Amino acid sequence: MTTGEIQVIRGLADVYFDRTESSFIDGKKGVLLYRGYNIHDLADNSTFEETSYLLIHGSLPTRSQLAEFDAQLRSSREIPDEIVGIIRAVKASHPMDVLRTAVSALSAYDPDAGDNSHEATLRKGLRLTAQVPTIVMTHYAIREGRQPVAPRSDLNHATNFLYMFAGEVPDEDTASLMDKDFILHAEHGSNASSFTARVVIGTNADIHGAITAAIASLSGPAHGGAAEGVMKMALEIGEPENAARYVKDLLSEGGRVMGFGHRVYRAEDPRARHLRAGVQKLSEDVGEPKWFGILEAVIEAMQPYARRGIHVNVDFFAGVIYYLNGIPEDLFVPIFAVGRMPGWVLQVLEQQQNNILLRPRLVYTGPEEQPYVPIEQR
Ligand code: CMC
Repeated sequence: MTTGEIQVIRGLADVYFDRTESSFIDGKKGVLLYRGYNIHDLADNSTFEETSYLLIHGSLPTRSQLAEFDAQLRSSREIPDEIVGIIRAVKASHPMDVLRTAVSALSAYDPDAGDNSHEATLRKGLRLTAQVPTIVMTHYAIREGRQPVAPRSDLNHATNFLYMFAGEVPDEDTASLMDKDFILHAEHGSNASSFTARVVIGTNADIHGAITAAIASLSGPAHGGAAEGVMKMALEIGEPENAARYVKDLLSEGGRVMGFGHRVYRAEDPRARHLRAGVQKLSEDVGEPKWFGILEAVIEAMQPYARRGIHVNVDFFAGVIYYLNGIPEDLFVPIFAVGRMPGWVLQVLEQQQNNILLRPRLVYTGPEEQPYVPIEQR
């Protein structure tokens, strides 16, 4: 839309507002690189800890760098009792609201509170990356009426996350699929939540504020809520043979198929295929292959939309994986947040390093200047 000489780009679609060394996305070809490394290589070969180091520090770690980084994460998982108390006080809220509240409150207990130097922000970012899973699972236990399961420092990030959920150590396949899911969600350029974090940092506010705001941004269904939406859809569809009719009815009512479409990708989201294999295996392993069948039938029904650049995105398969692990639907977005932590930390650090106030403008379309009318004359 053009207003006089001013061009308004609603939603800032395809607007470049800065440079980044974080990640590269070619939406037409379906390519995603973290710090120059292809997401396919990372999903197949890396771990969440190694990918987090790569994102935050800019290069793949040596063995000793990785060991030190991992040790820092493992030793930072505990949350203060006061935060557990706050979680108890707001336990009836959606887990994303609880997470947002707890992350915000954590700033009061952080030893680096008030220090916004690069080093302090890095330390706070690592602590938050380690603490966010504990917050999510502490809340989950409390609202179930159970004692929270304390994190274990002898387990890796993904295994510990599932351990805190179920109270028992998951098998290797399950843990490795969750690890892959975290890698795939770890970073994605200037998406809504990372942009939100940058806007907050642009005012020289601190990382707890930026990540609190990013969590709020992620909580919306157009961003982080899609995996939950896909699972609701799959449950409503019920059987693969119902999928075509369901999709047709939804689209004819102007609805959107969750887990499809993306602001940047016009080709298939390269992250999706790594979780597809996971859904297939998991649904066969648990003796419920129909879940994979339902998703495949939805993809088939959405084929005509592929011509318009609407393909599956990363969240299409994620929800069913969580569901088959027994994880309740309202924990799906918090899982996205757990995975996205290193990306948010990276975006915060990068914004801080070359900071600028992010302050775009709006074209005014309200009334012209009006005479002020005293209240008794209105
Ligand atoms: N189902 C049906 N139609 C769709 C869909 C969909 N999932 N996505 C886009 N469209 C249509 C839309 O109706 C519109 O059609 P028309 O031009 O006839 O009005 C056209 O495609 C363009 O849509 P848009 O909303 O202008 O495009 P956008 O770039 O703003 O939308 C999106 C991006 C992700 C918000 C949207 O595709 C959507 O709502 N998808 C479903 C939610 C979802 O899966 N979100 C997760 C995104 S991946 C995780 C992440 O990175 O956050």
